[in-house]
Amino acid sequence: MTNDPAVRIRGLRKAYGDLVVLDGLDLDAHAGEVLALLGPNGAGKTTTVRILSTLVAPDSGSASVAGHDVVREAPAVRAAISLTGQYAAVDELLTGEENMRLMARLAHVPRAQVRDRAAALLEAFDLVDAARRPVRTYSGGMRRRLDLAVGLVGRPRVVFLDEPTTGLDPRSRGEVWDMVRTVVAAGATVLLTTQYLDEAERLADRVAVIDHGTVIAQGTTTELKRTIGTAHVELVLADGTTERVPTDGSVPDVRRILDDVERRDLLVAAWQVREPTLDDVFLTLTGRPTAPGAPALATAQETR
Ligand SMILES: Nc1ncnc2c1ncn2[C@@H]1O[C@H](COP(=O)(O)OP(=O)(O)OP(=O)(O)O)[C@@H](O)[C@H]1O
Ligand SMILES: [Mg+2]
Repeated sequence: MTNDPAVRIRGLRKAYGDLVVLDGLDLDAHAGEVLALLGPNGAGKTTTVRILSTLVAPDSGSASVAGHDVVREAPAVRAAISLTGQYAAVDELLTGEENMRLMARLAHVPRAQVRDRAAALLEAFDLVDAARRPVRTYSGGMRRRLDLAVGLVGRPRVVFLDEPTTGLDPRSRGEVWDMVRTVVAAGATVLLTTQYLDEAERLADRVAVIDHGTVIAQGTTTELKRTIGTAHVELVLADGTTERVPTDGSVPDVRRILDDVERRDLLVAAWQVREPTLDDVFLTLTGRPTAPGAPALATAQETR
């Protein structure tokens, strides 16, 4: 593997009629890293992933994956990637094991290796017990796991995960996070899209915040949080005003803040510790909240 970026995007543009979805997107994912593409509904995340996985052609600009141009060398790109979408691609009627074998054939895995690879992946993704059951009997979390596992059978160099945990309960989210770490340990570069800041924080080496089809900020989550501020204790006072006190979120620090509230004799109607969310990132970076009608965003901190 060279030092060439695993994903390289320059000036990428895509419009659907009058709707400009990607407006000159620039982005690199380095080999072996997890890069999170963080953005609200409609920001252009899936469109980016679909272009990188050769399912959609860009209007202009360029993109390469594993060193291959997504337009001119589409078959080579397809051979180097795995794509796990917002919607699972596994066959409901087949068993987990059958899905794995089918994908191995499609990915041209040498016949002699199919059995071993399938067994190792089913094991790594905790699906051994369910391997002989039809997928339609699987829970949502199990399906995502199988979807991830199936995508790895061809040993892809770059793995795209489009909102891998959207719609999952907290426990299944945690399971998928563990699985993503398994994918990374296998040596792949991962490009992950998400609407959740906490998800990016847990999984990603670097984060690119995308809005209206351009990258408006990028860096580690620590760097991003430095721009947007840390967690804070939010106090709703009896007169309806709100106070926000920065905190590191530790018990002693929150106690210190609450002690101070008592000393000042403030009448508190409600209080909570708030971690920064994608909404906070957007508010800070753009001066406006995330797009209207994006209800999932504020709940990220409640589902951990
Ligand atoms: N094939 C298409 N035809 C017309 N409009 C499209 C098409 N695909 C996407 N769009 C529009 O492009 C915009 C960006 O869509 P995209 O799916 O890339 O966003 P996203 O960031 O993945 O959003 P979400 O978080 O909801 O998945 C949206 O307004 C969407 O409606
Ligand atoms: Mg999407």
